[in-house]
This record gives sequence, C-alpha cells and structure tokens, in this order.
Amino acid sequence: MSASQPQPQPQAPDKSPIPIRNFDKDRYLSRDWMERERQALWAHTWLVAGLACDVQTAGQYFTFEIGAESLIIARGTDGRLRALHNACTHRGTRLVTEPLGVLKKFVCPYHAGAYGLDGGLQGAPGASRFSNGLPKAQLALRAVEVEEALGLVFVRLTPGGITLPDFLGPVLDLLRPYRLETMSVTNDQSVSHTCNWKAILDNFAELYHVPFIHPIHRRMFECATAPIELFEHGHTAVYVPGGVTDSGFPTPEVPTDMLTLQLRAVGLDPEDYRGRVAEIRPALQRAKRAIAQERGLAYADLSDAQLSDVWQFNLFPNIILSVTPESAWLMRSRPDAGDPGKSQFDMITLVQFQGSAEEAQRAKGQDGVAIGTHFRLNGPRPDDYQRPPRDAFTHEDIIAGRKSMTVTIDEDISLLARVQEGMASSGFQSVWLSDEECRVQHFHDALDACLAAHG
Ligand code: FES
Ligand SMILES: [Fe+2]
Repeated sequence: MSASQPQPQPQAPDKSPIPIRNFDKDRYLSRDWMERERQALWAHTWLVAGLACDVQTAGQYFTFEIGAESLIIARGTDGRLRALHNACTHRGTRLVTEPLGVLKKFVCPYHAGAYGLDGGLQGAPGASRFSNGLPKAQLALRAVEVEEALGLVFVRLTPGGITLPDFLGPVLDLLRPYRLETMSVTNDQSVSHTCNWKAILDNFAELYHVPFIHPIHRRMFECATAPIELFEHGHTAVYVPGGVTDSGFPTPEVPTDMLTLQLRAVGLDPEDYRGRVAEIRPALQRAKRAIAQERGLAYADLSDAQLSDVWQFNLFPNIILSVTPESAWLMRSRPDAGDPGKSQFDMITLVQFQGSAEEAQRAKGQDGVAIGTHFRLNGPRPDDYQRPPRDAFTHEDIIAGRKSMTVTIDEDISLLARVQEGMASSGFQSVWLSDEECRVQHFHDALDACLAAHG
C-alpha cells in the first residue's frame, strides 16, 4: 500500500462521539415533512443518479426518479454528459419511461415534439400553428448540474452550493482504491417498499440489529466491535472485519461454512484451519496479496484490512455503498412521489472482473450460500457479458420468496414494513437511540441541518 494512501479514522462503536438527541416520528409519517424534504433536501443536495458506465457513448442514457422529479442523464454527440428534466416543454408529458438505453433523440409520445441529446428542441409537428413561435432556448429541456466521481453520476437539481469533492470530503479518497469505475454491473434490482425512505437508511446505519436478524453474519464477520466513522455533511462509514466469526459468540473449532468458501476461493484448505479459526483473516489477506502480485491485480493501494473486510459508506442523503476489492453493492433509497409511507429501494451489484479463469472456476457455484460476490476473485470478464436490465418488483415478492436481493438484504426488507406499521401507532412517538446507533443520529442531524438551511 502506498504511504500517501488516506486511511480511515475509525472509532469504537460503543460510545457515541456526538450527542444522542433522538427525534420524533413525524419525519417518517407526515406529508408536511415530506414536502419540506422535497424543497430543502432533494432540491439542494448532490444525489447519485446512476452509473457512469451506463452513459459512456453518445446516445446512451438512463433515467433517475426522485419523488415527483424525473431526470434523463444522457451522453451527447459532443461527448458531454447532461442531466435533463424528463418533461416535455409542450404540455409536460414524461418523455422517456425506459430506465436505460440508447437513443438518437427524445421524441415525445404525445404530439411528437423532438429533442436532441443536448435537450434542445429540434422541432414540433405543425410548427407554423404556434402563433407564439417555438423559441428554442425557452423550450429546451431544463438541465441540472451533473458531475462524475468514483464511477458514479451525481446530479443537483438546484445549482449552487458546495462542490461535489467538498461534499464527499475524505470519503472520496477512501473509496478511490476500490476502482468502482472499472467494475461491471451484474445485477440491477429495484423494490417498491411500504416504509419511509429514511427507515431504510436507518437500517443500514447500525449493526445493532445484525445478531438478531442476520445469523449468517456471525459466521463470517465481526459485527460486535466493528469500528465506525462519522464524516462532515452527514456521511458515515463502518469498517467490518471479515474472515472471522463474531466475537459476540464462541469461536468455533472448525471454519464456518462461510469461512470455508472464502478459504477455498483463494486456494487455501479449510482443514488446515481446524482449531486455528482466528488465523483465517490474516491468511486470507496474505493469499490475496500473493495472487494479486502473481496476476498483476491492482491491489497496491488497498491495505491488508481492505483485502478481507467489508467497508460500508453511507453517503448522505440516500446511498449505501458496501465495498470489497472484488465487488460492491450500491444501494439507494428513494422517496415516493406523494406517500411518506412508501419508498423505492435500489440495489446494483458491481463486480471487478479480474484474475485468472482458474480463480473464476474456484469461485463458481459457491454463491448459492448468499456470500454474494463479495470476497471472491471473479476471473476475467466473460466474453458474453451483458449489462443486465433493471428488475423491478415489490417487497411482497421478496417476502414470498419470488425475488431475492441476497439473504441479508431480504431479511432487512422483510422487517422494514413492520417498522413503518409500528411507527403509525399512537403508542409510539419518538425514537430512543443507543450509542451504537450514532450513525443514525448523525444522518438525521445532517437532515435537520439541511432543512434548516434551505427550509
Ligand atoms: S406534450 Fe410533448 S409534444 Fe405535446
Ligand atoms: Fe440488516
């Protein structure tokens, strides 16, 4: 690892570095809160709209919905990336409904007004019958700010305010060695949910719940003491040691099923670790370092801890990024257009295709145990690789087992509907957080600050 590489400044999760102030339930339930968030939060904050890899060439576009707003993010023939309001300037019709694709221009389905990839009005049928003319500057699709960083496309609906690098701060440098921009999408899912968008963020801002609803974690992670970090502007991180078992439970004599998979994936024999489970984490790190050197993988800027652990960053306001050198989960919670009790939860799986076919073979068939793609060397990108289309479904599909977003996420999704139901009860008025949930508090403090600044 290079000496200049930025390092986290973690701290133990058991004592909050910020006051636990708690907050009442209105923010999850009231339309007034929802409207305040629309005006003060979503309109003024940098937001992850999607992936840069989806808009590499002219004509490639994707859409981004946030509440009632919809944007088209498109690469123009001039090579420039633009974020345009997805609303025809004739009578407001939504222009594009497919979540991503390739187009030469945007043609309105209503009266066939046509816009270029730059948002400029190209023409409207019966143009001579507009007695007010068709002033092109006035009738172009409205553009908003757009920036790329870390392979992600960020937008900001209202111009002005902090720059994207200043907004992301140290998180930008901590994420850079993972090279998200060179990863490939292998899964793109979106689930509609019956909880407020913030309940999802809260869920991913504490590990307090993990021993109770995610038993699989204790077989491969140390969640009990995983260090955390709070950043300016509401971002947070948790650095979860992997290649271990949870210290809240007795250390097993033999490697667990999940550790067995990880050992095999880097060519180590689980039998050698009978009675030596505590030695697995450094062994995994050494094995990966050796493979990286042998195969010329770009691991030089990653620390030993990063080779075995999962680092999760919550980017204010609505992104959860869970990363390993081999893969990442980009998760995003979005508000409904009008109902505070509904939200949309997106999950994109990104894979770093690298290493040899041998590694890919070793890892093959081992995903069924819900290890996802984390921790495995995936081998070269398959010749027949295709970016998968978006799969949209409801949380009932998950509860019924018709769809899955991995065992762990399914467990979270299944529980979150109950949180929203309970919050509506007259017997519940305000949250009462533990120090272990200080990342939840930090997120809500940033939300409060945002609403105070722009409300
Ligand atoms: S609303 Fe789009 S052309 Fe009429
Ligand atoms: Fe969870």
